[in-house]
Amino acid sequence: MKDKVLKILTENLDSYVSGEEITSKLNISMTELVDSVQALRDDGYPVNFSPRQGYCLPETTNLILPYQLNKNLETEYIGHEIHYFNEVDSTNNVAKKMAEEGASEGTLIIAESQSSGRGRRGKKWISPEGGVWMTIILRPDIHPSEAPQLTLVTGVAVAETLKKECGLDVGIKWPNDILIGEKKVCGILTEASANADTLDYIVAGIGIDLNIDVELFPPDLREGATSLKAELEREIQSAELVQKFLVNFENIYNEFKDGKFPEILKKWRRFSTTIGTYVEVHKRGQTVKGEAVGINKDGVLILELEDGSLLKVMAGECVHVKNREPF
Ligand code: BTN
Repeated sequence: MKDKVLKILTENLDSYVSGEEITSKLNISMTELVDSVQALRDDGYPVNFSPRQGYCLPETTNLILPYQLNKNLETEYIGHEIHYFNEVDSTNNVAKKMAEEGASEGTLIIAESQSSGRGRRGKKWISPEGGVWMTIILRPDIHPSEAPQLTLVTGVAVAETLKKECGLDVGIKWPNDILIGEKKVCGILTEASANADTLDYIVAGIGIDLNIDVELFPPDLREGATSLKAELEREIQSAELVQKFLVNFENIYNEFKDGKFPEILKKWRRFSTTIGTYVEVHKRGQTVKGEAVGINKDGVLILELEDGSLLKVMAGECVHVKNREPF
C-alpha cells in the first residue's frame, strides 16, 4: 500500500494532498494511510504533514530519493530500476542478493547510509549520511577473466564525472581510488559471480564522500580522506550528481561492451597518478617497492624494481611514496 501512497505523493510534489483524497482514491482507512506514511518515513521519504492540508513530499531535498533520480534521467537502462534505502548493511550485499534473484542489468541500489559498508581487501567502509553509497548490477557478455576491467571502467566514469561536473582535478590511484591531491574521495568495489567460463553478474559498488565532514571520520582515516564538500566548500546536490554519473557510466560501459576497452584504458592512464610514481605495494604482510611504469590491459600494475627488473602486481594496497630514498 505504501507504494500506492508514494505514487500519489510523487505525482503532486510540493503540493499537499488531503488524507480524505488519498483514502478515497485508494479505498483505504485513515489508519492504513497513517501506517503507510510511517512506513515511507521509515524508508527515508521526508513526508510532511499539515493537519489542515494533508500530506506532501518536497520536490527538492538533499537526499537521493528515487523520484529525484528518475526525473529527467537521461539513460537508456542504467538506473531505470532503483532500490532506495535510508540505511542498509551494504548496497553491494543487497545487489548480490538481487542479482541472484534475477534483477536486470542496470538495476541501482542506493542508500543514504550503510551500517556495514565494505571496502577492498576486507576493510570496513565508513558510510555516514551525506555520502553516495550505490551499487549497479551488470550482466556483460564477457569472459570472467575480463571482469576486473570493469573496476577500471567504473573508475574512469567516476573521475570524468567529478572533473566535468565539479571542475575538480581528480586522479586515480591504482587500482581504483579516486583522489583529489593525495586524498581519497571515492572508492570502488566490484564483485563478480562466475564459474570457470561464464560470468553470471558483476556488482559495481561506488562510495563517494560527498556532503561529508571528514573531521567526523576516525582519526586514522581523516588524514588520507577528503570530501567534495570539503574541496568545493559548499554542499552538492546529490541526486543531480548521481544522475550525471549514471549517464557517464552508461556511455562508457556501452563502449566497454562494444569492445573499446583499450580506449577506456587510455583514459584511465591519463587520470592515473600512480604511473610514473615511486610506490610501495603491501599485500599479505609483504611489501614490494619500485617505480610504477605502467598498467596492462588486465589492470595489472607493472613495477620497475631497484635492479631494473619488471614485476607484475595483480593486487594490493598501493602507497605513493613522495620522499623516497634514491635507488
Ligand atoms: C575501497 O576503496 O576500499 C572500496 C570502497 C567501496 C565502497 C562502496 S560504498 C557502496 C558499496 N557498498 C559497499 O559496501 N561498498 C561499496
